[in-house]
Amino acid sequence: MSDKKITETYPPQQQEYISLLSDILTDRYHTSAPKAFVHTYGCQQNVADSEKLKGMLLQMGCVLTESKEEADIIIFNTCAVREHAEDRVFGNVGALKVLKRQKPSLLIALCGCMMEQEHIAEKIYKSFPYVGLVFGTHVIHRFPELLFHAVTTGKRRLERGYDDGKLYEGIPLHRDGSFKGWLPVMYGCDNFCTYCIVPYVRGRERSRSAEYILSEARNMVASGYKEITLLGQNVNSYGKGLTEGIRFPQLLKSVADIEGDFWLSFMTSHPKDASKELIDVMAENPKISTHLHLPFQSGSNQILQRMNRHYTVEKYLEIVDYAKSRIPDLALTSDVIVGFPNETEEDFQQTLDLIAKVEFTSLFTFIYSPRVGTPAAAMEDPYSHEVKAERMGRLLKLQEEISARRTASMVGKRYRVLVEEQARDGILNARTHGGVVVEVSGGTDLIGTFQTAEITEARNFILRGKLLVV
Ligand code: SAH
Ligand code: SF4
Ligand code: F3S
Repeated sequence: MSDKKITETYPPQQQEYISLLSDILTDRYHTSAPKAFVHTYGCQQNVADSEKLKGMLLQMGCVLTESKEEADIIIFNTCAVREHAEDRVFGNVGALKVLKRQKPSLLIALCGCMMEQEHIAEKIYKSFPYVGLVFGTHVIHRFPELLFHAVTTGKRRLERGYDDGKLYEGIPLHRDGSFKGWLPVMYGCDNFCTYCIVPYVRGRERSRSAEYILSEARNMVASGYKEITLLGQNVNSYGKGLTEGIRFPQLLKSVADIEGDFWLSFMTSHPKDASKELIDVMAENPKISTHLHLPFQSGSNQILQRMNRHYTVEKYLEIVDYAKSRIPDLALTSDVIVGFPNETEEDFQQTLDLIAKVEFTSLFTFIYSPRVGTPAAAMEDPYSHEVKAERMGRLLKLQEEISARRTASMVGKRYRVLVEEQARDGILNARTHGGVVVEVSGGTDLIGTFQTAEITEARNFILRGKLLVV
Protein backbone atom coordinates (compact mmCIF):
# COMPACT_ATOMS: atom_id res chain seq x y z
CA MET A 1 0.00 0.00 0.00
CA SER A 2 1.47 3.37 -0.89
CA ASP A 3 1.26 6.42 1.31
CA LYS A 4 -0.36 8.31 -1.56
CA LYS A 5 -3.38 6.07 -1.29
CA ILE A 6 -3.84 6.34 2.45
CA THR A 7 -3.09 10.03 3.04
CA GLU A 8 -6.09 12.30 2.57
CA THR A 9 -6.40 16.00 3.20
CA TYR A 10 -9.02 17.16 5.65
CA PRO A 11 -12.33 17.08 3.71
CA PRO A 12 -13.51 20.64 2.83
CA GLN A 13 -17.03 19.44 3.59
CA GLN A 14 -16.07 19.08 7.29
CA GLN A 15 -14.68 22.61 7.23
CA GLU A 16 -18.08 23.76 5.93
CA TYR A 17 -19.83 22.05 8.83
CA ILE A 18 -17.45 23.87 11.18
CA SER A 19 -18.47 27.24 9.68
CA LEU A 20 -22.17 26.39 9.85
CA LEU A 21 -21.84 25.23 13.45
CA SER A 22 -20.41 28.50 14.68
CA ASP A 23 -23.79 30.22 13.99
CA ILE A 24 -25.88 27.23 14.99
CA LEU A 25 -24.16 26.83 18.37
CA THR A 26 -24.38 30.59 19.03
CA ASP A 27 -28.16 30.47 18.49
CA ARG A 28 -28.58 27.32 20.53
CA TYR A 29 -26.63 28.53 23.53
CA HIS A 30 -27.38 32.29 23.22
CA THR A 31 -23.72 33.16 23.36
CA SER A 32 -21.00 33.73 20.81
CA ALA A 33 -18.69 31.51 22.84
CA PRO A 34 -20.36 28.24 23.91
CA LYS A 35 -18.35 26.30 26.46
CA ALA A 36 -16.94 22.85 25.68
CA PHE A 37 -15.58 20.39 28.23
CA VAL A 38 -13.37 17.62 26.83
CA HIS A 39 -12.16 14.89 29.18
CA THR A 40 -9.60 12.33 28.03
CA TYR A 41 -9.13 8.82 29.42
CA GLY A 42 -6.33 6.47 28.45
CA CYS A 43 -3.07 6.92 26.62
CA GLN A 44 -1.35 9.71 24.69
CA GLN A 45 -3.02 8.58 21.46
CA ASN A 46 -6.29 9.65 23.00
CA VAL A 47 -4.73 12.87 24.29
CA ALA A 48 -3.59 13.61 20.73
CA ASP A 49 -7.09 12.85 19.38
CA SER A 50 -8.64 15.15 21.98
CA GLU A 51 -6.33 17.91 20.81
CA LYS A 52 -7.95 17.53 17.38
CA LEU A 53 -11.46 17.63 18.85
CA LYS A 54 -10.48 20.79 20.74
CA GLY A 55 -9.03 22.29 17.55
CA MET A 56 -12.33 21.68 15.74
CA LEU A 57 -14.39 23.03 18.66
CA LEU A 58 -12.34 26.23 18.83
CA GLN A 59 -12.87 26.78 15.11
CA MET A 60 -16.62 26.45 15.74
CA GLY A 61 -16.31 29.43 18.09
CA CYS A 62 -16.39 27.41 21.32
CA VAL A 63 -14.17 28.12 24.31
CA LEU A 64 -12.75 25.30 26.42
CA THR A 65 -13.78 24.94 30.05
CA GLU A 66 -12.51 22.81 32.92
CA SER A 67 -15.96 22.77 34.51
CA LYS A 68 -18.62 20.21 33.55
CA GLU A 69 -21.25 22.28 35.35
CA GLU A 70 -20.59 25.31 33.12
CA ALA A 71 -20.33 23.36 29.88
CA ASP A 72 -22.74 23.47 26.93
CA ILE A 73 -21.01 20.54 25.24
CA ILE A 74 -19.40 17.66 27.16
CA ILE A 75 -17.17 15.12 25.39
CA PHE A 76 -15.64 12.05 27.03
CA ASN A 77 -12.86 10.50 24.95
CA THR A 78 -12.74 6.97 26.36
CA CYS A 79 -10.22 4.13 26.82
CA ALA A 80 -10.94 0.40 26.60
CA VAL A 81 -7.59 -1.06 27.60
CA ARG A 82 -8.66 -2.45 31.00
CA GLU A 83 -11.95 -2.99 32.77
CA HIS A 84 -11.09 -0.38 35.38
CA ALA A 85 -10.79 2.31 32.67
CA GLU A 86 -14.22 1.37 31.34
CA ASP A 87 -15.83 1.31 34.78
CA ARG A 88 -14.72 4.87 35.42
CA VAL A 89 -16.37 5.99 32.19
CA PHE A 90 -19.65 4.24 33.06
CA GLY A 91 -19.64 5.89 36.50
CA ASN A 92 -18.82 9.34 35.17
CA VAL A 93 -21.39 9.20 32.37
CA GLY A 94 -24.01 8.13 34.92
CA ALA A 95 -23.24 11.24 36.94
CA LEU A 96 -24.00 13.51 33.96
CA LYS A 97 -27.71 12.72 34.14
CA VAL A 98 -28.27 15.47 36.71
CA LEU A 99 -26.51 18.07 34.56
CA LYS A 100 -28.60 17.17 31.51
CA ARG A 101 -31.78 17.49 33.60
CA GLN A 102 -30.72 20.96 34.76
CA LYS A 103 -29.72 22.10 31.28
CA PRO A 104 -31.68 20.27 28.55
CA SER A 105 -29.67 21.98 25.77
CA LEU A 106 -26.48 20.30 27.08
CA LEU A 107 -24.98 18.06 24.40
CA ILE A 108 -23.19 14.98 25.69
CA ALA A 109 -20.91 13.08 23.30
CA LEU A 110 -18.86 9.94 23.92
CA CYS A 111 -16.06 8.89 21.64
CA GLY A 112 -12.76 7.01 21.65
CA CYS A 113 -11.70 3.40 21.99
CA MET A 114 -14.60 2.08 24.10
CA MET A 115 -17.02 3.16 21.39
CA GLU A 116 -15.30 0.93 18.83
CA GLN A 117 -16.49 -2.15 20.73
CA GLU A 118 -19.97 -2.97 19.53
CA HIS A 119 -21.26 -4.39 22.81
CA ILE A 120 -20.04 -1.37 24.80
CA ALA A 121 -21.27 1.29 22.38
CA GLU A 122 -24.68 -0.34 22.31
CA LYS A 123 -24.80 -0.70 26.08
CA ILE A 124 -23.97 3.00 26.49
CA TYR A 125 -26.48 4.05 23.87
CA LYS A 126 -29.23 2.05 25.58
CA SER A 127 -28.36 2.75 29.21
CA PHE A 128 -27.79 6.48 28.91
CA PRO A 129 -30.58 8.01 26.80
CA TYR A 130 -29.31 11.51 27.56
CA VAL A 131 -26.10 10.86 25.60
CA GLY A 132 -26.74 12.55 22.24
CA LEU A 133 -23.77 11.41 20.20
CA VAL A 134 -21.57 8.30 20.23
CA PHE A 135 -18.71 7.94 17.76
CA GLY A 136 -15.62 5.77 17.39
CA THR A 137 -11.95 6.44 16.72
CA HIS A 138 -12.29 5.79 12.97
CA VAL A 139 -14.63 8.72 12.35
CA ILE A 140 -13.04 11.41 14.51
CA HIS A 141 -12.36 13.56 11.42
CA ARG A 142 -16.13 13.61 10.81
CA PHE A 143 -16.87 15.11 14.22
CA PRO A 144 -18.15 18.44 12.75
CA GLU A 145 -20.65 16.61 10.52
CA LEU A 146 -21.82 14.37 13.38
CA LEU A 147 -22.22 17.30 15.75
CA PHE A 148 -24.09 19.25 13.06
CA HIS A 149 -26.61 16.42 12.68
CA ALA A 150 -26.98 15.99 16.42
CA VAL A 151 -27.78 19.67 17.03
CA THR A 152 -29.88 20.33 13.94
CA THR A 153 -32.03 17.19 14.01
CA GLY A 154 -32.17 16.71 17.78
CA LYS A 155 -31.81 12.98 17.04
CA ARG A 156 -29.35 10.72 18.78
CA ARG A 157 -26.57 9.30 16.68
CA LEU A 158 -24.24 6.30 16.95
CA GLU A 159 -21.45 6.14 14.39
CA ARG A 160 -18.73 3.56 14.65
CA GLY A 161 -16.96 0.51 13.35
CA TYR A 162 -15.71 1.31 9.86
CA ASP A 163 -11.96 1.65 9.41
CA ASP A 164 -11.45 3.20 5.97
CA GLY A 165 -7.67 2.74 6.38
CA LYS A 166 -7.11 6.44 5.65
CA LEU A 167 -5.01 8.97 7.41
CA TYR A 168 -6.29 12.54 7.45
CA GLU A 169 -3.82 15.42 7.42
CA GLY A 170 -4.74 19.00 8.25
CA ILE A 171 -7.39 18.39 10.91
CA PRO A 172 -7.57 21.49 13.14
CA LEU A 173 -5.49 21.03 16.27
CA HIS A 174 -5.24 22.71 19.65
CA ARG A 175 -2.28 21.50 21.72
CA ASP A 176 -2.80 21.34 25.48
CA GLY A 177 0.73 22.42 26.29
CA SER A 178 2.68 25.42 25.03
CA PHE A 179 6.19 23.98 25.45
CA LYS A 180 5.67 20.19 25.51
CA GLY A 181 3.76 18.61 22.68
CA TRP A 182 2.73 15.26 21.20
CA LEU A 183 3.41 14.48 17.58
CA PRO A 184 1.71 11.32 16.25
CA VAL A 185 3.83 9.51 13.67
CA MET A 186 1.63 6.48 13.22
CA TYR A 187 -1.82 5.24 14.12
CA GLY A 188 -3.22 1.80 14.89
CA CYS A 189 -1.46 -1.46 15.71
CA ASP A 190 -0.96 -4.74 13.81
CA ASN A 191 0.65 -6.71 16.62
CA PHE A 192 -2.38 -8.39 18.18
CA CYS A 193 -0.83 -9.22 21.55
CA THR A 194 -3.35 -11.75 22.81
CA TYR A 195 -4.44 -9.70 25.86
CA CYS A 196 -4.83 -6.38 24.07
CA ILE A 197 -7.89 -4.62 22.67
CA VAL A 198 -5.99 -1.79 20.96
CA PRO A 199 -5.68 -3.36 17.45
CA TYR A 200 -9.44 -3.95 17.44
CA VAL A 201 -10.40 -0.42 18.46
CA ARG A 202 -7.67 1.53 16.66
CA GLY A 203 -7.47 -0.39 13.42
CA ARG A 204 -4.50 -1.21 11.20
CA GLU A 205 -1.11 0.46 11.37
CA ARG A 206 -0.77 3.59 9.24
CA SER A 207 2.37 5.72 9.16
CA ARG A 208 2.23 9.42 8.47
CA SER A 209 4.39 10.65 5.65
CA ALA A 210 7.73 11.95 6.99
CA GLU A 211 7.17 15.20 5.12
CA TYR A 212 4.11 16.05 7.27
CA ILE A 213 5.82 14.98 10.48
CA LEU A 214 8.91 17.07 9.79
CA SER A 215 6.92 20.12 8.83
CA GLU A 216 4.82 19.83 12.01
CA ALA A 217 7.97 19.38 14.11
CA ARG A 218 9.58 22.45 12.50
CA ASN A 219 6.48 24.50 13.28
CA MET A 220 6.54 23.30 16.87
CA VAL A 221 10.19 24.25 17.31
CA ALA A 222 9.57 27.64 15.67
CA SER A 223 6.68 28.33 18.05
CA GLY A 224 8.82 27.61 21.10
CA TYR A 225 8.19 23.94 21.93
CA LYS A 226 10.98 22.62 24.14
CA GLU A 227 10.00 18.96 24.10
CA ILE A 228 8.45 16.99 21.26
CA THR A 229 7.30 13.41 21.80
CA LEU A 230 6.81 11.24 18.72
CA LEU A 231 3.83 9.00 19.30
CA GLY A 232 2.64 5.62 18.12
CA GLN A 233 1.54 2.26 19.59
CA ASN A 234 4.70 0.77 18.16
CA VAL A 235 6.91 3.53 16.75
CA ASN A 236 9.58 1.02 15.72
CA SER A 237 7.44 -0.30 12.92
CA TYR A 238 7.08 3.23 11.54
CA GLY A 239 7.41 3.38 7.77
CA LYS A 240 5.68 0.10 6.90
CA GLY A 241 3.57 0.78 3.81
CA LEU A 242 5.19 4.11 2.98
CA THR A 243 6.83 4.53 -0.42
CA GLU A 244 9.45 6.82 1.12
CA GLY A 245 11.47 3.85 2.43
CA ILE A 246 12.15 5.64 5.70
CA ARG A 247 12.21 3.75 9.02
CA PHE A 248 11.93 5.01 12.58
CA PRO A 249 15.63 5.54 13.41
CA GLN A 250 16.00 7.77 10.33
CA LEU A 251 12.82 9.67 11.13
CA LEU A 252 14.04 10.24 14.68
CA LYS A 253 17.36 11.52 13.41
CA SER A 254 15.71 13.83 10.87
CA VAL A 255 13.56 15.41 13.58
CA ALA A 256 16.59 15.74 15.88
CA ASP A 257 18.43 17.49 13.03
CA ILE A 258 15.93 20.38 13.05
CA GLU A 259 17.78 23.43 14.24
CA GLY A 260 16.89 24.72 17.71
CA ASP A 261 17.22 23.93 21.39
CA PHE A 262 14.65 21.23 22.12
CA TRP A 263 14.38 17.71 23.48
CA LEU A 264 13.01 14.84 21.47
CA SER A 265 11.30 11.79 22.99
CA PHE A 266 9.26 8.91 21.59
CA MET A 267 6.90 6.19 22.71
CA THR A 268 6.10 3.31 22.62
CA SER A 269 8.78 0.91 21.43
CA HIS A 270 8.04 -2.77 20.96
CA PRO A 271 11.06 -4.93 21.94
CA LYS A 272 10.66 -7.18 18.88
CA ASP A 273 11.40 -4.21 16.60
CA ALA A 274 13.79 -2.18 18.79
CA SER A 275 17.03 -2.23 16.83
CA LYS A 276 20.63 -1.42 17.63
CA GLU A 277 20.32 1.24 14.97
CA LEU A 278 17.63 2.94 17.08
CA ILE A 279 19.91 2.87 20.13
CA ASP A 280 22.81 4.25 18.05
CA VAL A 281 20.66 7.17 16.87
CA MET A 282 19.70 7.86 20.50
CA ALA A 283 23.32 7.69 21.62
CA GLU A 284 24.62 9.94 18.86
CA ASN A 285 22.05 12.74 19.03
CA PRO A 286 22.15 14.78 22.23
CA LYS A 287 18.65 16.20 21.63
CA ILE A 288 17.11 12.74 21.90
CA SER A 289 15.91 11.78 25.35
CA THR A 290 17.94 9.28 27.37
CA HIS A 291 14.61 7.72 28.34
CA LEU A 292 13.60 4.44 26.71
CA HIS A 293 10.15 3.03 27.41
CA LEU A 294 10.42 -0.63 26.43
CA PRO A 295 7.49 -2.71 27.70
CA PHE A 296 8.53 -6.31 28.50
CA GLN A 297 5.11 -7.45 29.85
CA SER A 298 6.46 -10.69 31.35
CA GLY A 299 9.78 -12.26 32.33
CA SER A 300 8.68 -15.76 31.30
CA ASN A 301 9.33 -16.95 27.74
CA GLN A 302 6.40 -19.29 27.97
CA ILE A 303 4.03 -16.41 28.84
CA LEU A 304 5.60 -14.11 26.24
CA GLN A 305 4.86 -16.71 23.63
CA ARG A 306 1.24 -17.03 24.73
CA MET A 307 1.03 -13.22 24.69
CA ASN A 308 2.16 -13.31 21.02
CA ARG A 309 4.98 -10.86 21.77
CA HIS A 310 7.56 -12.33 19.33
CA TYR A 311 10.65 -11.92 21.53
CA THR A 312 12.30 -13.83 24.34
CA VAL A 313 13.68 -12.62 27.66
CA GLU A 314 17.17 -13.19 26.22
CA LYS A 315 16.44 -10.97 23.21
CA TYR A 316 14.99 -8.31 25.51
CA LEU A 317 18.08 -8.34 27.73
CA GLU A 318 20.35 -8.14 24.70
CA ILE A 319 18.82 -4.86 23.53
CA VAL A 320 18.72 -3.48 27.09
CA ASP A 321 22.40 -4.31 27.62
CA TYR A 322 23.30 -2.67 24.35
CA ALA A 323 21.32 0.46 25.26
CA LYS A 324 22.96 0.63 28.69
CA SER A 325 26.40 0.32 27.13
CA ARG A 326 25.75 3.08 24.58
CA ILE A 327 23.73 5.61 26.61
CA PRO A 328 25.14 6.86 29.90
CA ASP A 329 22.37 7.75 32.39
CA LEU A 330 19.86 5.67 30.41
CA ALA A 331 16.44 5.77 32.10
CA LEU A 332 14.55 2.60 31.28
CA THR A 333 10.86 2.27 32.00
CA SER A 334 8.49 -0.54 31.15
CA ASP A 335 4.98 -1.98 31.30
CA VAL A 336 4.36 -5.29 33.02
CA ILE A 337 1.26 -7.44 33.34
CA VAL A 338 0.73 -9.60 36.41
CA GLY A 339 -1.68 -12.53 36.27
CA PHE A 340 -1.89 -13.30 32.56
CA PRO A 341 -4.07 -16.45 32.23
CA ASN A 342 -2.39 -19.43 33.83
CA GLU A 343 0.73 -17.49 34.89
CA THR A 344 2.34 -19.80 37.45
CA GLU A 345 4.34 -18.77 40.51
CA GLU A 346 7.44 -19.83 38.59
CA ASP A 347 6.54 -17.58 35.63
CA PHE A 348 5.96 -14.74 38.05
CA GLN A 349 9.33 -15.34 39.73
CA GLN A 350 10.94 -14.95 36.33
CA THR A 351 9.25 -11.55 35.99
CA LEU A 352 10.75 -10.55 39.36
CA ASP A 353 14.15 -11.82 38.20
CA LEU A 354 13.99 -9.67 35.07
CA ILE A 355 13.03 -6.59 37.08
CA ALA A 356 15.91 -7.16 39.50
CA LYS A 357 18.35 -7.65 36.65
CA VAL A 358 17.38 -4.63 34.53
CA GLU A 359 16.76 -2.13 37.36
CA PHE A 360 14.12 0.04 35.72
CA THR A 361 13.75 3.70 36.69
CA SER A 362 10.03 3.07 37.08
CA LEU A 363 7.38 0.57 36.02
CA PHE A 364 3.77 0.80 34.89
CA THR A 365 2.16 -2.24 36.44
CA PHE A 366 -1.15 -3.83 35.52
CA ILE A 367 -3.15 -6.79 36.73
CA TYR A 368 -4.39 -8.68 33.68
CA SER A 369 -7.89 -7.64 32.68
CA PRO A 370 -9.79 -9.88 30.21
CA ARG A 371 -11.01 -7.98 27.12
CA VAL A 372 -13.98 -9.35 25.18
CA GLY A 373 -12.96 -10.62 21.73
CA THR A 374 -9.23 -11.04 22.46
CA PRO A 375 -7.68 -14.55 22.38
CA ALA A 376 -6.47 -14.38 26.01
CA ALA A 377 -10.01 -13.80 27.28
CA ALA A 378 -10.83 -17.37 26.21
CA MET A 379 -7.78 -18.92 27.96
CA GLU A 380 -8.19 -21.03 31.11
CA ASP A 381 -7.13 -19.27 34.27
CA PRO A 382 -7.15 -21.11 37.61
CA TYR A 383 -5.62 -18.21 39.57
CA SER A 384 -7.81 -15.97 41.71
CA HIS A 385 -7.68 -12.19 41.90
CA GLU A 386 -6.28 -12.52 45.45
CA VAL A 387 -3.28 -14.50 44.20
CA LYS A 388 -2.63 -11.90 41.50
CA ALA A 389 -3.01 -8.98 43.91
CA GLU A 390 -0.56 -10.61 46.33
CA ARG A 391 1.96 -11.05 43.53
CA MET A 392 1.49 -7.46 42.47
CA GLY A 393 2.29 -6.40 46.06
CA ARG A 394 5.60 -8.29 45.92
CA LEU A 395 6.46 -6.81 42.54
CA LEU A 396 5.76 -3.25 43.70
CA LYS A 397 7.91 -3.75 46.80
CA LEU A 398 10.84 -4.92 44.68
CA GLN A 399 10.50 -2.00 42.29
CA GLU A 400 10.27 0.47 45.21
CA GLU A 401 13.63 -0.73 46.47
CA ILE A 402 15.14 -0.39 43.01
CA SER A 403 13.65 3.08 42.43
CA ALA A 404 14.91 4.25 45.83
CA ARG A 405 18.42 3.01 45.02
CA ARG A 406 18.35 4.63 41.60
CA THR A 407 17.15 8.01 42.85
CA ALA A 408 19.70 7.95 45.72
CA SER A 409 22.46 7.43 43.17
CA MET A 410 21.51 10.72 41.48
CA VAL A 411 22.25 12.83 44.59
CA GLY A 412 25.18 15.20 44.10
CA LYS A 413 24.98 15.05 40.29
CA ARG A 414 24.06 17.88 37.93
CA TYR A 415 21.40 17.58 35.25
CA ARG A 416 19.92 19.79 32.61
CA VAL A 417 16.19 19.98 33.40
CA LEU A 418 13.06 21.32 31.75
CA VAL A 419 10.89 23.21 34.26
CA GLU A 420 7.34 21.96 33.79
CA GLU A 421 4.86 23.21 36.36
CA GLN A 422 4.29 24.62 39.79
CA ALA A 423 4.11 21.83 42.40
CA ARG A 424 3.11 24.20 45.23
CA ASP A 425 3.96 27.70 46.41
CA GLY A 426 7.55 28.51 45.43
CA ILE A 427 8.27 24.90 44.38
CA LEU A 428 8.46 23.78 40.77
CA ASN A 429 8.55 20.36 39.13
CA ALA A 430 11.34 19.97 36.63
CA ARG A 431 12.24 16.89 34.60
CA THR A 432 15.62 15.50 33.57
CA HIS A 433 16.32 14.37 30.01
CA GLY A 434 15.62 10.85 31.21
CA GLY A 435 12.17 11.92 32.46
CA VAL A 436 12.89 11.87 36.22
CA VAL A 437 11.03 14.56 38.21
CA VAL A 438 13.07 16.90 40.42
CA GLU A 439 11.58 19.49 42.78
CA VAL A 440 13.33 22.86 42.75
CA SER A 441 12.64 26.27 44.28
CA GLY A 442 11.81 29.07 41.88
CA GLY A 443 9.24 31.39 40.38
CA THR A 444 6.64 30.45 37.78
CA ASP A 445 8.49 32.57 35.18
CA LEU A 446 10.89 29.61 34.86
CA ILE A 447 8.16 27.26 33.61
CA GLY A 448 8.95 26.15 30.05
CA THR A 449 12.68 26.91 30.30
CA PHE A 450 15.76 24.72 30.46
CA GLN A 451 17.81 25.03 33.66
CA THR A 452 20.62 23.18 35.38
CA ALA A 453 19.84 21.49 38.68
CA GLU A 454 22.08 19.83 41.23
CA ILE A 455 20.34 17.03 43.07
CA THR A 456 20.56 17.68 46.81
CA GLU A 457 18.28 15.07 48.32
CA ALA A 458 16.26 11.93 47.53
CA ARG A 459 13.38 11.24 49.89
CA ASN A 460 10.31 8.99 49.41
CA PHE A 461 11.00 8.78 45.66
CA ILE A 462 11.01 12.55 45.38
CA LEU A 463 14.19 14.19 44.23
CA ARG A 464 15.00 17.65 45.48
CA GLY A 465 17.48 19.88 43.69
CA LYS A 466 18.75 23.40 43.55
CA LEU A 467 18.96 25.45 40.39
CA LEU A 468 22.42 26.59 39.43
CA VAL A 469 23.36 29.64 37.46
CA VAL A 470 25.67 28.28 34.77
N1 SAH B 1 1.39 -0.14 22.45
C1 SAH B 1 1.93 -0.09 23.68
C2 SAH B 1 1.01 -0.07 24.88
C3 SAH B 1 -0.43 -0.16 24.73
S1 SAH B 1 -1.43 -0.39 26.11
C4 SAH B 1 2.85 -1.29 23.79
O1 SAH B 1 2.75 -2.19 23.05
O2 SAH B 1 3.65 -1.30 24.67
C5 SAH B 1 -0.43 -0.01 27.51
C6 SAH B 1 -0.17 -1.16 28.40
O3 SAH B 1 -1.37 -1.63 28.96
C7 SAH B 1 0.44 -2.37 27.74
O4 SAH B 1 1.80 -2.24 27.55
C8 SAH B 1 0.10 -3.46 28.72
O5 SAH B 1 1.09 -3.58 29.72
C9 SAH B 1 -1.19 -2.97 29.36
N2 SAH B 1 -2.35 -3.75 28.93
C10 SAH B 1 -2.86 -3.85 27.69
N3 SAH B 1 -3.91 -4.69 27.69
C11 SAH B 1 -4.07 -5.13 28.96
C12 SAH B 1 -4.98 -6.03 29.59
N4 SAH B 1 -5.94 -6.63 28.91
N5 SAH B 1 -4.83 -6.23 30.92
C13 SAH B 1 -3.84 -5.61 31.62
N6 SAH B 1 -2.97 -4.77 31.08
C14 SAH B 1 -3.07 -4.53 29.75
FE1 SF4 C 1 -1.50 -3.72 22.34
FE2 SF4 C 1 0.57 -5.20 21.70
FE3 SF4 C 1 -0.30 -3.36 19.99
FE4 SF4 C 1 0.89 -2.60 22.23
S1 SF4 C 1 1.84 -3.75 20.57
S2 SF4 C 1 -1.00 -1.79 21.40
S3 SF4 C 1 0.24 -4.15 23.70
S4 SF4 C 1 -1.40 -5.19 20.63
FE1 F3S D 1 -6.80 3.11 25.81
FE2 F3S D 1 -7.27 3.40 23.27
FE3 F3S D 1 -4.98 4.17 24.30
S1 F3S D 1 -7.76 1.62 24.48
S2 F3S D 1 -4.67 2.81 26.00
S3 F3S D 1 -6.95 5.04 24.77
S4 F3S D 1 -5.32 3.35 22.26
